Amino acid sequence: MQEQRGQWSSNVGFILAATGSAIGLGNLWKFPFITWNNNGGAFVLVYLVCIAGVGLPIMMAELLIGRKTQRSVVGALKAALGPAWGIVGGWGVLCGFILLSYYTVIAGWSLFYFTRTAGWTMSGFPAGLQTGDLFAEQAGNGALQLGLSLLFSLATISIVYFGVQKGIERIARLFLPILFGILILLLISALRMEGSGEALAFIFRPSFGELEPRSVLEALGHAFFTLSLGMGAMITYGSYIDRSQSIVKASAVIVLLDTLIALVATIIMFSVIFSVEGMPEQVSGTGTVGMLFISLPELFYSEVPFGSLLGPLFYVLVALAALTSTISLLEVVVSYLIDEHGVGRRAATLMCGGAVFLFTILAALSFGAVSGLSNMEVGGYLGQKLFGGKVGWFSLADHFVSNWMLPTGGFAITMAAGWFMTREATRGELADGTEPGWFRYGAWRFFIRFVAPAAVGAIIIAVFLGEDFS
Ligand code: TRP
Repeated sequence: MQEQRGQWSSNVGFILAATGSAIGLGNLWKFPFITWNNNGGAFVLVYLVCIAGVGLPIMMAELLIGRKTQRSVVGALKAALGPAWGIVGGWGVLCGFILLSYYTVIAGWSLFYFTRTAGWTMSGFPAGLQTGDLFAEQAGNGALQLGLSLLFSLATISIVYFGVQKGIERIARLFLPILFGILILLLISALRMEGSGEALAFIFRPSFGELEPRSVLEALGHAFFTLSLGMGAMITYGSYIDRSQSIVKASAVIVLLDTLIALVATIIMFSVIFSVEGMPEQVSGTGTVGMLFISLPELFYSEVPFGSLLGPLFYVLVALAALTSTISLLEVVVSYLIDEHGVGRRAATLMCGGAVFLFTILAALSFGAVSGLSNMEVGGYLGQKLFGGKVGWFSLADHFVSNWMLPTGGFAITMAAGWFMTREATRGELADGTEPGWFRYGAWRFFIRFVAPAAVGAIIIAVFLGEDFS
């Protein structure tokens, strides 16, 4: 007998789960970094425009395709549009598979930093410790990396194993409030620091002179990543929504919360950084991982009010945020096996989780532990185009997913909702009597038919011409 298909137990449960998917390393790790690199102000404004003008309409599109068809990504696109669209769905499943395989490694770092900071809280920050060296040491330690990412994979698997209501939704209901709570504590502490004024000015005072054209596309690319769009994660989550709920309202809440959390995280980190002399220059030199895993750990013990308590809590926050994202990534792959191949949830979860972990091993060992993986390159014209000349398994995979897979998948989904599905079909899901008063179906249709494809098309062209958004 077919197992009964999962469903969210309530609207709040669904919104928390989807928000949990959206809030992740993208908010805490990528967004502050790219805001820093793009000089704040104007970039943040452009990002907000991208979120509202492109992210929100596509969020609605994915959720509506899922709910209409009650299928996960491959089956949903086939049912809504025809068998050939299964290919786009398959692309999404593959994307989820690859993204999950390396995302888990960074997520594992949060566990390491939690144990370290907890240790420092008990016995004091070790004199003379160089956090840059500490980072390189842990990242290059193969056994440690395998252990951390295995732990994180097991946590992800054990949640998805229990299904939509008893696994994913339950964890989101528990973890998201904790996550919000920790963030508020950190915000209060950060706002009391000297640098908070400068941080707020940096983030919210736009100076358009410093904005480059590529920043606009970078903001747009990040809008996809941070909202978990472009690979059918939201189609999958949408397929568990009840008919009585408004997709429009839910989309608005998810997008607002994700944006709010990204901004709050950025305010927290920049307040700390601007409070320390010389830190802004130092941060600029350490790349993506620098802020979260090199600068901050030490500053909690020297600068931040109540930092010795907030330090470990901060890494708990990172871990929880990452975990509610990894479960949604795994769910994309697992629900494909369940819906399309009739595999039971438990078997499907173990199979997919295991298969993904084989690739996690490659990513985990590509930060110095195994030189073949750490120094791997793909040469030639195609290597340059597809992988941007990146070095190391992790960077190659991230480049391909962020620059190629998410934008192309997103483009296909936009075209599907805007041009290939009928007006009646999409209208029936969005303007079904549950929608809020401010919603205009005609406006959505305009954005999904013209604005979103043009914007996403521009990313793809820019990537093809050699731009890099990973
Ligand atoms: N949104 C997640 C973040 O900000 C990352 C992500 C991208 C994701 N696509 C996804 C998570 C799909 C779950 C499903 O970290």
